[in-house]
Amino acid sequence: MEKTTRQRLIASIDTSTDMLACAIARIDEDAFARGDASSLEILASRDHLCRRRANVELVLTLRDVLAEAGYAVEDLDALIVGRGPGSFTGVRIGISTAKGLACGANVPLYGASTLDATAWTAWRGGVRGLVGIAADAMRGEVYPALYRIDDAGIERLFDRERVVKAAAVVDTWLNMPEAGELQLSGDGLKRYGARFREAGFARFVEEGLWHPTGEGLVRAALQAAAERGWDDGDPALVLPIYTRLSDAEENERRRLGTAPSARSEVTGVADELAGRHLQIRPMGAADAEAAASLEATCFAGAAHTPWTPGQFLSEFSEDAAVPRTWWVAHDDGELAGIAGGMVVEHDIEILDVAVAPERRRQGIARKLLSHVSYDAQMLGCTSASLEVEAGNDAAIALYASLGFMEAGRRRGYYGPSKDAIVMTAQLPLALPVDAASPEPTSAAMRAWPVPAARRSADERALVERLKPVLAIESSCDETAVAIIDADGRMLANQVSTQIDFHARFGGVVPEIASRKHVEVIVGVVDAALEEAASTLGLAGGALEPCELAAVGVTQGPGLVGALVVGVAFAKGFSLGAGVPLIAVNHLEGHLFANLLAQPDLKPPFIFTLVSGGHTMLVHVRDWGDYQVLGETLDDAVGEAFDKVAKALGLGYPGGPIISRLAETGDPKAIDFPRALNRKGDYRFSLSGLKTAVVNYIEQETAAGRVIHLPDLAASFEAAVFDVQYKKAWNALRDTGAREYCIGGGVAANPHLREMMTRKLGRQGVRVTLPPQGACTDNAAMIAEVARRKFDRGEFSALDIDADPNMTL
Ligand code: KG4
Ligand code: ZN
Repeated sequence: MEKTTRQRLIASIDTSTDMLACAIARIDEDAFARGDASSLEILASRDHLCRRRANVELVLTLRDVLAEAGYAVEDLDALIVGRGPGSFTGVRIGISTAKGLACGANVPLYGASTLDATAWTAWRGGVRGLVGIAADAMRGEVYPALYRIDDAGIERLFDRERVVKAAAVVDTWLNMPEAGELQLSGDGLKRYGARFREAGFARFVEEGLWHPTGEGLVRAALQAAAERGWDDGDPALVLPIYTRLSDAEENERRRLGTAPSARSEVTGVADELAGRHLQIRPMGAADAEAAASLEATCFAGAAHTPWTPGQFLSEFSEDAAVPRTWWVAHDDGELAGIAGGMVVEHDIEILDVAVAPERRRQGIARKLLSHVSYDAQMLGCTSASLEVEAGNDAAIALYASLGFMEAGRRRGYYGPSKDAIVMTAQLPLALPVDAASPEPTSAAMRAWPVPAARRSADERALVERLKPVLAIESSCDETAVAIIDADGRMLANQVSTQIDFHARFGGVVPEIASRKHVEVIVGVVDAALEEAASTLGLAGGALEPCELAAVGVTQGPGLVGALVVGVAFAKGFSLGAGVPLIAVNHLEGHLFANLLAQPDLKPPFIFTLVSGGHTMLVHVRDWGDYQVLGETLDDAVGEAFDKVAKALGLGYPGGPIISRLAETGDPKAIDFPRALNRKGDYRFSLSGLKTAVVNYIEQETAAGRVIHLPDLAASFEAAVFDVQYKKAWNALRDTGAREYCIGGGVAANPHLREMMTRKLGRQGVRVTLPPQGACTDNAAMIAEVARRKFDRGEFSALDIDADPNMTL
């Protein structure tokens, strides 16, 4: 169908609720520019209930509705997506798909509030007057919204989206002077309608109008544009409306007593709480040595006499009548700071605050003191006090900013003419709120849509011949994108890691992982397209989505909420750019990482996969023909590293920390158990080893002995790797294979790499190791698999979903 140049074709989608909303609309160009809906025409729409199948149905529904309207994706001028609030996963499916579509098709993407769209649904259904929408937020909560609706449209009577207990909304609305006029709508009524009815509400909007619709979304976006104008529509900037942090972050925020920052309201992730690998944990006896040496460095030349290890140790063995609280900040196992004090009546006497000189001005002292002060409050304290050397202006300024005031002086306390200033503060301390952190902005403030690349005929021919395949990996806590060409050359390899956002929780928090993927995916894809252009020496602009030959994506296994973001984005991108989709198994990716090091690797061979989620021994009889000889019965190897590091308070992820500690340790120092070590048994079990290590730590700590971390780390590694070697060697003998390779995050471990190469090499086995950087999750390995599937024409349909339980 012909579209005159004076018209704009818009598609809208929303999967925030059980309703998959989708419409194709046409609007006069000038009216669109003004946000004026007067010429709006809905050409086709398909709003239907699709519980939990949104990711399966969304892209194909959009394609079908477009076709019904007589158009295809390349005709679209703009996209509108519902940003929620709603089901977190549902919102992310809609937004990720929309981002993929907008990037692939290079069109503007605009977000609209799902609640506004629901109000417009009521408007369309002829509802007029005061309307209260209670959208379902699960867990006894709703997203409440009040609107005044008249013939001209809807008017918001609330400042921002929030999540509130359904019972509290009943009360608030009941107490409004206009309660009698209020007409109720929203899918939260399916669950909580009875409460409203019992409280006396009698006017309900007809149930068929309780959801957002495709038309409602378009109207909501136009109304927002009429009020504020359109921006560039950069898909990188469209983010979900969550209304709350992840549970883990919300608990942490409450504990620290901080208010949510402006940025976290936008991204839904408490970025301000993420320090680079920095973690705060209670001090333990094992820290005594390190704490004393940190103190000695910090107070070199100062009047304060440094504490000895014995003094720190005695802090933990003192009687409980005088409670104490000590915290350490550490970074990859290195102590960066310490702070602690003891409770005297209702006052916490802060005995020590020390931050490593190279780590000052990073807010570490504040973080430590916030923990100390929180504990003090829990112990019934109402005030805090400390002494600081007169003249130490930096420290005095820090304490003053936390609310400490000078309460007196002790003359000559630190020696002749060295006074101590006594400072006191009321609890809680005035902890800083990072209100200044900026809202996310487009990385380079680029123009969107992206101007067409300028290519010479030769360049076009080159790209055509190279058939670049872009691959996306989002199964856990790295958002990664790589681009590989027909010759197997990696044109781009981008990884955005989220470790900082998870480290302080001692492991990956799935909800944070999903949020971060949504936040960064467009930026990582862009960076990869730019990197590819520069690798190829193309001067006229980044590689364009339509110049790609295919888009690959990790379908599973992994965290379902994280996988969904990559899969939805890739499907949108595939449709938007008009390139085929290739689903990749993440485990196969770890295997194929070996091809990055050894392109002539050929089955049959034995493959060991040791990652954070998997431990398996595989007989690779042919590419795609995998005989899994054995798997772990409990923890994966990487998981065991992480748990042991956590038990030692060393931080996350544990693998790199433990392997570094092990460098100087004696692997024979402690005899840890080797499980299922019988010949012919290819199964693994690591929970017994983990328990043995934890018991050892407890037993040594209870006995007041300082744990020798390097010996512990080396002995733990030896117990794990001995078993890995024996089983791999048995498998090689049993199958007659002469080749061996390895993969997964733990394969980055230098001791494992060295041992396998040396011991198996001695048996005449050729050992292949992936490049060290390609062991932990990355997209180059996914691209490697996608490339092979592309060559064989193995494409995927646009109705695939993430599969968290995929196996080899
Ligand atoms: O493959 P990966 O990045 O993610 C999964 O697919 O699970 O593996 C991550 C795991 C983590 O458990 C991490 O502690 C471990 O790999 N790891 C290591 C080392 N580097 C990462 N384990 C031992 N030694 C290392 N050097
Ligand atoms: Zn992995």
